[in-house]
Amino acid sequence: MKILITGGAGYIGSHTLVEVIKAGHQAVVVDSLVNGHTEAVERVSKLTGSDIHLAVGDIRDKSFLESIFTEFAPEAVIHFAGLKAVGESVENPMAYYDVNVNGSRVLLEVMQSQNCHRIVFSSSATVYGEPQYLPYDENHPVAPINPYGRTKLMVEQMLGDWSAADPERSAISLRYFNPVGAHPSGLIGEDPRGRPNNLMPFIAQVAVGTSSELQIFGGDYDTRDGTGERDYLHVVDLAKAHVLSLNALADQEGHDVINIGTGHGVTVKEMVKAFEIACAHSINTRTVARRAGDLPCFFANSERAQARLGWAAKLSLTDMCRDTWTWQSQNPSGYKAREY
Ligand SMILES: NC(=O)c1ccc[n+]([C@@H]2O[C@H](COP(=O)([O-])OP(=O)(O)OC[C@H]3O[C@@H](n4cnc5c(N)ncnc54)[C@H](O)[C@@H]3O)[C@@H](O)[C@H]2O)c1
Repeated sequence: MKILITGGAGYIGSHTLVEVIKAGHQAVVVDSLVNGHTEAVERVSKLTGSDIHLAVGDIRDKSFLESIFTEFAPEAVIHFAGLKAVGESVENPMAYYDVNVNGSRVLLEVMQSQNCHRIVFSSSATVYGEPQYLPYDENHPVAPINPYGRTKLMVEQMLGDWSAADPERSAISLRYFNPVGAHPSGLIGEDPRGRPNNLMPFIAQVAVGTSSELQIFGGDYDTRDGTGERDYLHVVDLAKAHVLSLNALADQEGHDVINIGTGHGVTVKEMVKAFEIACAHSINTRTVARRAGDLPCFFANSERAQARLGWAAKLSLTDMCRDTWTWQSQNPSGYKAREY
């Protein structure tokens, strides 16, 4: 199948690009490079032995998108492009509504006019908000507690309306839990521009010496060791869930939402310990006050992913830490050294 991947030069997009091509599909990438890297797409080309076209442009630019759809005629879209920092979304909510909601609206309009009927969307467990029970299943009420989460929920709702308007259309929103890790080759991985917002890239930067210490936000939560607990999953497992979703869209009508997580929580301290084993030295940490808006603990019920997609996480915490360390130690400055 011909697949258009928005945000394919980013972290999850580049890993998914590998799996999409390995599954025998053709892919074209659309990315503005606001947080993605040309080098990531080039390295996927090298990894897969396939020449991948990266179209640099913004999903909000309708005529740009139309020209790509006309030229490539994709049969499905995997939609990663968006902004993803919770704190930044509180400070600058309009940027999030513009890129995430308006950008998705433009994309769906173009898909509609070009008769492209299938889409897989990067949603997030953030849509659930405060847990009323755990693990979160897909029937858990949705009540996001920040603008980022609200933009994800709005796009899910838009996909529901878009797909209901034509029986040929189908959409899957994958609600990711906490993707970490890197491709085992060490060629691609997470390279956030600026200061990382997530735990794993931060640990990796401290381990490689580009940051001096890891701040642990809150040591007094009601969890096994007082630190926050999350459902981390390997990005390669997550990438495979997208390929399975492309298959599932073929015999689905309307919109479906599916959690993608392991079903198990890991605390910050447990993650640090696992990373210390992977990199074979200790990681400097300092426990500071809780961060506003952080939840103590959440993890997924992933039974629906198994039932609908035949998907379950296969890679372990050890794999996540080993592969992150391979990527970070081989690319201490990320893609920067080779970027042009
Ligand atoms: N990483 C996570 O923890 C996580 C968790 C849940 C959901 N998600 C979602 O998954 C998706 C991918 O996340 P990621 O971690 O790979 O992030 P990322 O920032 O690495 O990738 C997003 C890509 O989209 C591109 N982009 C941003 N705005 C664009 C625009 N207007 N037009 C074209 N391209 C644009 C960026 O340049 C980047 O390459 C995002 O939608 C994110 O919200 C991520």
